[in-house]
Amino acid sequence: MESDWNIAANSLSKINVFSNPDNEPVTISGDTDDLKCIGVGTDAAVFGSLCAPAYAFKKYAKDKVAKVKIEADVYRILGDSPFFSTCFASYDEYLVLSYEEGKTLFDCILQGIHIPEQVINDVEDAREYVRNKGLNPRDIHLKNILLQNGRAKILDVSEYVLPGNDFRWEHLKKGYEEYYHLIDGSSVPFWLVETTRKWYNQRNKYFSSFDEFIKMVLKILYKK
Ligand SMILES: Nc1ncnc2c1ncn2[C@@H]1O[C@H](COP(=O)(O)OP(=O)(O)O)[C@@H](O)[C@H]1O
Ligand SMILES: [Mg+2]
Repeated sequence: MESDWNIAANSLSKINVFSNPDNEPVTISGDTDDLKCIGVGTDAAVFGSLCAPAYAFKKYAKDKVAKVKIEADVYRILGDSPFFSTCFASYDEYLVLSYEEGKTLFDCILQGIHIPEQVINDVEDAREYVRNKGLNPRDIHLKNILLQNGRAKILDVSEYVLPGNDFRWEHLKKGYEEYYHLIDGSSVPFWLVETTRKWYNQRNKYFSSFDEFIKMVLKILYKK
């Protein structure tokens, strides 16, 4: 029996996704009537289909398609969990995921939408859940977490098979606990979030420690 997401297969084949250097988000080309792009990352673009609104189609860039099977496998190991989306199927170039409502924490900061502490606790619990499945919860950052009805939904599990701690979540949590009150309720301008993000990604080059980086952000950008 054909699955109801198959209706999007033809449209997805008309879209091309290309990766970019320096960890910049992918670019897309092509045109269809029923797909809309709902997000981009550094490996893939994610589409919703007007014909199959329950799903999110994560189409990988040509040179990243090896990750399709890896991410599908991580979803299989994670099993059923309220912390993650469901992966219904995988094809050569894309995954069929459950469409998840909500805004990323990145968008929440831009738009001044309050991020409740519950979200932080959910991510902590989700990381524990991942470890209990024998996987490594990595790459957990503002664009990979959705605020969904006051709770956290974590996207993008493809790196959970890699070793090592990237400390992204630990740093975000510390930032939330110590500094979130400074921006809570106000929309932070895009340039400020981007400058902070880029400094963070190159912090080893410009700052001697994480605390040094934070100090500089507060001093130059906030004058607090
Ligand atoms: N299941 C989903 N439901 C709704 N939006 C999603 C879903 N998965 C991803 N997105 C959106 O697409 C963006 C990119 O997806 P992501 O899986 O993080 O790609 P990448 O692996 O390239 O980083 C996310 O930041 C989010 O905005
Ligand atoms: Mg991502």
